[in-house]
Amino acid sequence: MPENALPLIDFNRPVVVGKENEYMAQAIAAAKFSGDGPFTRKASALLEEQLGVQKVLLTTSCTHALEMFAFLLDIRPGDEVIVPSFTFVSTVNAFVLRGARPVFADIRADTLNLDEAGLGALITPRTKAVIPVHYAGVGCEMDAILEITGRRQVAVAEDNAHGLFGKYKSRNLGTFGVLASQSFHETKNFTCGEGGALLINDPGLVERAEIIREKGTNRSRFFRGQVDKYTWVDVGSSYLPSDILAAFLLAQLEQREKIQSHRRKVWNFYQEHLNDWAQAHEVKLPFVPAYCEQTYHMFYMLLPTLELRQRLIAHLRQRGVESVFHYLPLHLSDMGRKFGGQPGDCPVTERASDQLVRLPFHNALTAEEMNRVVEAVREFDF
Ligand SMILES: Cc1ncc(COP(=O)(O)O)c(C=O)c1O
Repeated sequence: MPENALPLIDFNRPVVVGKENEYMAQAIAAAKFSGDGPFTRKASALLEEQLGVQKVLLTTSCTHALEMFAFLLDIRPGDEVIVPSFTFVSTVNAFVLRGARPVFADIRADTLNLDEAGLGALITPRTKAVIPVHYAGVGCEMDAILEITGRRQVAVAEDNAHGLFGKYKSRNLGTFGVLASQSFHETKNFTCGEGGALLINDPGLVERAEIIREKGTNRSRFFRGQVDKYTWVDVGSSYLPSDILAAFLLAQLEQREKIQSHRRKVWNFYQEHLNDWAQAHEVKLPFVPAYCEQTYHMFYMLLPTLELRQRLIAHLRQRGVESVFHYLPLHLSDMGRKFGGQPGDCPVTERASDQLVRLPFHNALTAEEMNRVVEAVREFDF
């Protein structure tokens, strides 16, 4: 860095917002901090209560919660699972691990969420599940998705990695599917470094979920005194986080109001101060339907072309602002092509992937940093 250059504004910076250190010290002092200890129970109970979900099981990641979907939905080789092409690899990999064939759906041009208009045509007699991803914490068109899948008797399970505490038509995201997943990775609104949760809305799946998460054993029933020894009863793996991580997470969840109100301010600031610049340059800012309460997870912009997007990222870096893009279309990845993905299959995804850039967004972004980001973007003239 040149001597008088301004410090880099990080794209993401995970920070302590409340009693994280105190709670972790308590978990350590208890000298018993494997999974399902007191902090895990408190964090799950808080989520169950705030979301109105039947059962929440903390997991080691959202990826692992998605892997649990595949077990619980009984995905077998040859089954088809419909996922948006515009998502993180875990949304699809979890099912491919069990032998499923991914079927890639395109997204809507406005919200970048799974395009419900094309969904019916993708459903076949082999379709086992549809996995809507509430991109940027803005709800998918759940009325239409549930109507189409209900008619064809296909399960819906939500990848809600971005959508904790978001709402679609006043109903919490994560409560529409039989199952939903959350991420507490360090890039998310609420974090414990690496972590996730499985939300279970179908009471019939709770017992099996507990078993799968506990290496295929009925250990949870044993600890509740419901059986007098625990043993291997099903397939499973080790998906439960340490109570030290749950302690960190609980402290973050307790600061829900503080975290969300800060993120709302950041999002609104970017929106307000970039709107006229965006209009003048044919740049698209995020669209949030009036009936969606978003989670303020990210702020993205869609530049007119890939070349301009790349130039903007370089321009921002020169001014000490870190910005990033994502996702590469899954149907055009090496794995996606093995499943038959071809250019042109999901045109809206392909365009968005070229055009999208995300601005710095985290729980400790200062007013000065926000101003610097906005100024740097506005200096980019083309
Ligand atoms: C939509 C989506 N699903 C799943 C994941 C995976 O989350 P995790 O890192 O907690 O496994 C991510 C990660 O960012 C994501 O964006």
